[in-house]
Amino acid sequence: MDQNEMKKAVAAAAAKYVEERLEEKSVIGVGTGSTANYFIECLAPFKNRIHSTVASSEETRRRLMALGIPVFDLNSVDEVTFYIDGADEANAQLHLIKGGGGALTREKIIAAVAKEFVCIADQSKYVPVLGRFPLPVEVIPMARSHVGRAIVKLGGDPVYREGFITDNGNQIIDIHNMHIVDPRELEQQLNQITGVVTNGLFAIRPADLLILGTRDGIRTYTAA
Ligand code: 5RP
Repeated sequence: MDQNEMKKAVAAAAAKYVEERLEEKSVIGVGTGSTANYFIECLAPFKNRIHSTVASSEETRRRLMALGIPVFDLNSVDEVTFYIDGADEANAQLHLIKGGGGALTREKIIAAVAKEFVCIADQSKYVPVLGRFPLPVEVIPMARSHVGRAIVKLGGDPVYREGFITDNGNQIIDIHNMHIVDPRELEQQLNQITGVVTNGLFAIRPADLLILGTRDGIRTYTAA
């Protein structure tokens, strides 16, 4: 099985998980990225049973609407029943790095609201220590240099993601060369820098369930 086949397999497993638990008023939070896109395709066969979704990016909103699946503003739903999304890295505690696609802020908001956060990923994303993948930080544009200097003081190498604007009109700094031994602590430290909108560590609110695609099949993990 190659990486794309593993992504398709976990997307199908997550769709089955949701379909089996779907109730009339369930709201499905839908993530962003190639694995989430496969998940969206897997919703099509039971789309008539889906009352509402919320989208973590404009791209995801477009994809859901193209299938005729209703997409609501987060402010107009009472709860998010399930949130299904990919990740750039995940550890055994189900702490994640997200935001490779730049949608981290809306993703983190939906994760905060969700009753159950299910992360779907192929085996290349499962790591002992987070930080090999550059950690994205969304910043208010005028604060970019200030935030970059603060990141250097924390021991990271900030790299401006040139030419990229988030759905919220902001910019992204990717932090390279951070060996993240305490993800919760770093998540808090980064969020305290003035001008940071949010960062791509999902440790204070980790995933509840990880569905991992491996060459030997699907594995599921809850936090260790
Ligand atoms: C987007 C994300 C994605 O979940 C993450 O980048 C994984 O993407 P893919 O499924 O394409 O590997 O956080 O902001």
